[in-house]
Amino acid sequence: MSTEGITNAGTVNMTEGIDKSKRRFLVTATTVVGGIGAGFASVPFIMSMQPSAKTQAAGAPIEVDISKLEYGQKVTHEWRGKPVWVVRRTKKNLDDLKLSTLMAKLRDPDSQVDQQPSYAQNPARSIKPEYFVVIGICTHLGCSPSYVKEKDSHDLGSDWKGGFFCPCHGSFFDLAGRVFLGVPAPTNLVVPPHAYLSDTRILVGVDPQEGVT
Ligand code: FES
Repeated sequence: MSTEGITNAGTVNMTEGIDKSKRRFLVTATTVVGGIGAGFASVPFIMSMQPSAKTQAAGAPIEVDISKLEYGQKVTHEWRGKPVWVVRRTKKNLDDLKLSTLMAKLRDPDSQVDQQPSYAQNPARSIKPEYFVVIGICTHLGCSPSYVKEKDSHDLGSDWKGGFFCPCHGSFFDLAGRVFLGVPAPTNLVVPPHAYLSDTRILVGVDPQEGVT
């Protein structure tokens, strides 16, 4: 898949299609400690919260520009040494997440296990349904799954609606990162704390309810 990636000062610029890499992934830029100040201006409730020394050591929040993210596209950024994916889902993708036939195949379809902030405990597991923010690490043994679109299903079955496949030991997740039954991964993928600075900018590592984590 040809993608343009996201370019923004201080953010990661990465072009990718289906993830071929597993445990490692390449990141070409760093976090945006210096660039966060401007973003805070539009989020007053975050502005007063400064990262603690401990938080700074663990890794400051990163800003993700989603203004060029196209439907079906996934981009990867790094936060605290982990790949963070942002996927833009179509209306059909979102409708598919509610299919009873899909829900019946999931281990935790209602996200009861604490793998996401409370504001992402919904069918889309996100703040804005269209944009899915998730840590791209398999909950089994830590490989980085591949993003497999519905049309790229190949041998994943005719009812594959798109999602993520971890080839290390064969775990599947849907497009909300919900794990399927009968695979090694025990839980859904982790949704990190995040907040919207604007319609096109996300801050990962900041909980809109609690401030910087
Ligand atoms: S690490 Fe993903 S299935 Fe084992």
